[in-house]
Amino acid sequence: MSQPGDRPYDIVGVGFGPANLALAIALEEHNVRAAPADRLSAVFVERQPEFGWHRGMLLEGATMQVSFLKDLVTLRNPASGFTFLSYLKERGRLVDFINHKTFFPARTEFHDYLSWAAGGVEHLVRYGTEAVAVGAVEDGGDVTGFTVTVRDPSGVERVLRARDLVIGGGLRPSLPEGVRPSERIWHNSDLLTRLKEHEGPAPERWTVIGAGQSAAEVADHLHRAYPAAEVCAIFARYGYSPADDSPFANRIFDPVAVDHFYAAPDEVKERLFDYHRGTNYSVVDLELIEELYRRSYQEKVRGRERLRILNTCRVLEVREIAGGVRTAYEFLPTGERIELDSGVVICATGYRPYDVAGLLGPAAGLCERDERGRIRVERDYRVTTVPGVRAGIYLQGGTEHTHGITSSLLSNGAVRAGEIFDSLLVRRSEPAAPASPETVAVG
Ligand code: FDA
Ligand code: NAP
Repeated sequence: MSQPGDRPYDIVGVGFGPANLALAIALEEHNVRAAPADRLSAVFVERQPEFGWHRGMLLEGATMQVSFLKDLVTLRNPASGFTFLSYLKERGRLVDFINHKTFFPARTEFHDYLSWAAGGVEHLVRYGTEAVAVGAVEDGGDVTGFTVTVRDPSGVERVLRARDLVIGGGLRPSLPEGVRPSERIWHNSDLLTRLKEHEGPAPERWTVIGAGQSAAEVADHLHRAYPAAEVCAIFARYGYSPADDSPFANRIFDPVAVDHFYAAPDEVKERLFDYHRGTNYSVVDLELIEELYRRSYQEKVRGRERLRILNTCRVLEVREIAGGVRTAYEFLPTGERIELDSGVVICATGYRPYDVAGLLGPAAGLCERDERGRIRVERDYRVTTVPGVRAGIYLQGGTEHTHGITSSLLSNGAVRAGEIFDSLLVRRSEPAAPASPETVAVG
């Protein structure tokens, strides 16, 4: 996996989710065609032991929120061997899938597709390897590359050297302020793992906080999987709100929308974001809303309501008590404080962007900031750096403030990967750091 000679890698990628996987494929497709001198060397580090895409939420019956045509490659290169259709063909399901007449495969199937694609570029990835620190490589007063300290599960640290860095660390689970995850307080991102590990009898009551796609899927899953249990859904809205996936609004996910958003002044960016927040945030697929309503109504008819919707309720406190969790919430119309005890509370309360500055450490000082302290990013997803930095830091994700709503999503992943790859290729003529690609740092 190390580089021949004394050259650093052209690219070190942090994280190997769909975003950096799409980039690895763009790079691989370039390398197989290019003359040896024009090939780019890369390694991607991924802390999970194998490829995994939100494994904790691979719920039975959950479908994709994006067309299969927005896979890892099609919008960049429909002739690629890494399309979802190529995957289907190889799995022997192409005709069956066509008869299925859907654009939205099950998440489990798309996970299998992503794993299959990751298998095709396995030589570029180190699994079970976490990037823990980044340093700048200086040459004659200029920054000409980066070091990335990586740690394997046994604690051994190594240092990788790269000219350019592509950070694709994904999102971080977000819990309500003051709430800490525990034995009985989970974030939905860990749902299936925690259910598997959960010891003792299943709770008689589950509480799910939130009204987004995750919250609705979790409520649905628990309600089906534990037919004797009560599932209480707490959220501030009046009801789950449907995701706007109508065709005109869907254009906010088009590649050209990134150009428009990027060029727009801040107040226009904010307005566009507010108009179309409902294409992605705090919203639920209409079919699932209707299914939950149908079940809730049938329970009313039967006289035993297991699915309890506690709407217009603001969560005040979530804390462990003996044998369970107490959730205090306020019924917003009256201000009444109510307490609810359950066996487990699942916070389906969304995600925050990756902590880029945290990973960069002191090297974050090389990034320019806007007047609100946010990292400045060029159109090609390269961080704007202070003068004297000739190496690149590229962001896959964390660019919602500059590039718009597709920043953390799959929709534009293929095109974004192509744009980043083109930029990496064009800018490689800038001199690289004269250091060896890899050294052992700490035993
Ligand atoms: P992603 O989070 O997938 O990958 C980041 C990777 O980086 C992870 O594997 C992580 O382990 C690794 N990593 C982080 N820090 C690291 C470090 N320091 N060192 C090494 N590795 C590190 N979007 C959409 O458009 N359509 C959809 O259908 C869905 N569906 C969906 C379902 C669920 C349950 C969730 C939670 C989210 C979605 N999304 C979605 C949005 C989602 O963000 C998107 O599908 C991709 O996961 C984004 O891919 P990334 O590679 O950017 O992040
Ligand atoms: P989300 O859309 O951000 O929704 C978070 C929910 O939590 C919202 O209802 C929000 O309240 C609530 N919330 C946030 N902070 C809270 C707090 N402090 N107290 C109480 N409630 C709080 O997050 P998500 O549902 O996890 O979805 C994230 C992304 O993953 C989306 O892109 C979604 O499409 C995707 N996803 C896809 C699938 C799939 O493909 N099948 C499945 C799950 C998720 P408000 O309602 O007041 O905003």
